[in-house]
Amino acid sequence: MAKDTLYSTPRNPSDRFKFDEQVASVFNDMINRSVPGYTMMLEMIGIIASEYARPETRCYDLGCSLGASTLSIRHSLPDKSCTIIAVDNSPAMIARCDSNIEADDHPAPVHVCCDDIMNIPIENASLVVLNFTLQFITPDQREVLLTRIYEGLVPGGALVLSEKCILSKPEEQATLTRLYHDFKRRQGYSDLEIAQKRSALENVLVPDTLETHRQRLGRAGFGQVTPWFQCFTFMSLLATKNDE
Ligand SMILES: C[S@@+](CC[C@H](N)C(=O)[O-])C[C@H]1O[C@@H](n2cnc3c(N)ncnc32)[C@H](O)[C@@H]1O
Repeated sequence: MAKDTLYSTPRNPSDRFKFDEQVASVFNDMINRSVPGYTMMLEMIGIIASEYARPETRCYDLGCSLGASTLSIRHSLPDKSCTIIAVDNSPAMIARCDSNIEADDHPAPVHVCCDDIMNIPIENASLVVLNFTLQFITPDQREVLLTRIYEGLVPGGALVLSEKCILSKPEEQATLTRLYHDFKRRQGYSDLEIAQKRSALENVLVPDTLETHRQRLGRAGFGQVTPWFQCFTFMSLLATKNDE
């Protein structure tokens, strides 16, 4: 796995974070060392898929990057009548995702698309996964997307929404940020790397509070919204569409 050293030397402070070739080439290492619990979350996405994915429906992995969630879903499908649609608008990510899917021998079909998730029709979906993707969508487009996802889900279908959140109490936010930076240091990132990555992500990754997520999911139509994972400010919610 190529090591993420992208922010280890001084960079131009005006350079914004992008999912380009450089990031894609070290993304596996970057996300594993930056998202506490990432490997466990992938495993749990498989557990969720085994419960919610239904035969003859589709599962969507929106913002699929290298296809890690796609593969976890694929290996948990009830049978190969389920199709997975994996979407990302970064050509560098999609090229690698394609080869990762190609190298995997599970028979369930996966369609890998290089497109903006705002353009993708969501139809006959039993499971949709947004694993740390919504935070990169312009805030005023987030509800539009969630409403489309809700409308595309079959009754009883589910959305997994994982996000880096912000806490509404500044003192709690400060505590969890401090602990998160300790985690990153333990993962081998220097203070320079932590500071430069944080500044590159400003206004690119725009976090919401848990309350904002809950209210927005409710407006989009989701019935039950259950937090199933939290480590520091990284959270994941399971939002379901009521059975008819
Ligand atoms: C943090 S990564 C997601 C990680 C991935 N879901 C996983 O489980 O490993 C966010 C991804 O969303 C993609 N992305 C961001 N905005 C997008 C958009 N509007 N349409 C499609 N993909 C998008 C980025 O290219 C990036 O690969």
